[in-house]
Amino acid sequence: MRDDLLLRLLDAFVVLTVAVAGLWTWRRWHYRSFWLVVGYPLMAVSVRTTWRKVALGCGLTKKRHRWWFTLVPNAVASTGMVKVRRRFQRIAVDTKPWMWLPRPTRYGWRVTVHLLEGQIPDDYAQAAERLAHSWRVHAVRVSSPRPGRVVLAATMRDPLVRVDEIPPSSELLKVTVGRLETGKPWEIDFRTVPHWLNAGATQSGKSNLANALIVGLSPQPVALVGFDLKSGVEFTPYGPRLSALATSRAECVGLLDDLVALMADRMGLCRQAGARNIWQLPPGVRPVPVVVLVDELAELYLMADKSEKDEIAKTSTALLRVAQLGRAFGIYLFCCGQRIGSDLGPGVTALRAQCSGRICHRVNDPETATMTLGDLDPAALVSARAIPAETPGVAIVAGQDGQWYRARSFYVSEHAAEHAARMYADLTPAWEEITAGTCGAEITEADLNELIDA
Ligand SMILES: Nc1ncnc2c1ncn2[C@@H]1O[C@H](COP(=O)(O)OP(=O)(O)OP(=O)(O)O)[C@@H](O)[C@H]1O
Ligand SMILES: [Mg+2]
Repeated sequence: MRDDLLLRLLDAFVVLTVAVAGLWTWRRWHYRSFWLVVGYPLMAVSVRTTWRKVALGCGLTKKRHRWWFTLVPNAVASTGMVKVRRRFQRIAVDTKPWMWLPRPTRYGWRVTVHLLEGQIPDDYAQAAERLAHSWRVHAVRVSSPRPGRVVLAATMRDPLVRVDEIPPSSELLKVTVGRLETGKPWEIDFRTVPHWLNAGATQSGKSNLANALIVGLSPQPVALVGFDLKSGVEFTPYGPRLSALATSRAECVGLLDDLVALMADRMGLCRQAGARNIWQLPPGVRPVPVVVLVDELAELYLMADKSEKDEIAKTSTALLRVAQLGRAFGIYLFCCGQRIGSDLGPGVTALRAQCSGRICHRVNDPETATMTLGDLDPAALVSARAIPAETPGVAIVAGQDGQWYRARSFYVSEHAAEHAARMYADLTPAWEEITAGTCGAEITEADLNELIDA
């Protein structure tokens, strides 16, 4: 009898061990199917059953009066506020917000919640970290697709620890440079957001992102222009695909003059054709779009000695002109920098206002995050400062939709960017060709006002 029991126990132990080992292997080798079949249903049940406790703990409940029935008077004292003396009693109870069934996503799950009266999505955004800890997940992001609803998206583990390969971009001036925390591609689309600021401490992944752009834009019919005041170390290897490269202050002034003249020329062309921008021109006469890459923006504004003052003032004004008018005339800016602070002068602050695309890699000081991400949600600033040094390429991205995302660029080595630059060298339009016909026309204040108002 005892032997029989022992054998049965042994059998049960073996079956249990095999089952656990099987589940472990399944989870390890095909996490997505494991998550859908095993992980997600367990999690959905647990989230739904514990929602009341979690909402209460995170301060997302509201007190409401309810009729309460009890067979044992005084047994119910739900909140400790009202003692029940009769069988039916109106008492204050904590009401949880209504929650739909969680739906699985690539990296976790998402669920829609109905806001209680007086609640706003920001209440949930503020409780996001508490929710993440309560649910033991990596992060909870809050969005509000329509009034009265919030969607809580939970990610089980940081999806940005490893991101996969770069797919080739298919649309003009749009490059997929990485992946967002939500699993969606991270796209830089110059036609939607024409100018970008890309900030971050040293070794945070700024140049890697510029490399991704070089690889993505090289096969496209666009002209690439580089400003690299670090004596050209970053961009010189990509020379074959660059239509122009400025590596000294004098060259910067000359190249910016060319760009401003180019804009004036394109403005004339658009006026003649009655078009508001180059995209309204017929494809045959439409000039080639120009993407301007600036490495270490601060170098353009820093003064080594007084003799540079005039040149810096000129650079600053010309760069601002490009930012103000570039969009209409197919000239787009991508400015990288370790520091993009107001201490560099008023020109930088004005330029920053023109750049609606913001990317903030890991930063050392809170000011750079604030300057880059501006008046975004304070949680974005906290997230930017929490980017660990072990994950270069991770950044907070603010895009057109007013939302911010955590994202990571694909790793694109200098070698890969150099290879792309060499491979598509024959697509490089010559700078002389692009600027041919620009006769140094000036952009007057009146033109500027007209265009900015347009
Ligand atoms: N998305 C990424 N995935 C993996 N590794 C990355 C990624 N981005 C950058 N790195 C690594 O981090 C290192 C530093 O990146 P990068 O040169 O782009 O930094 P940076 O911000 O331009 O630094 P600096 O200010 O010194 O020029 C790179 O050598 C690369 O190996
Ligand atoms: Mg760099």
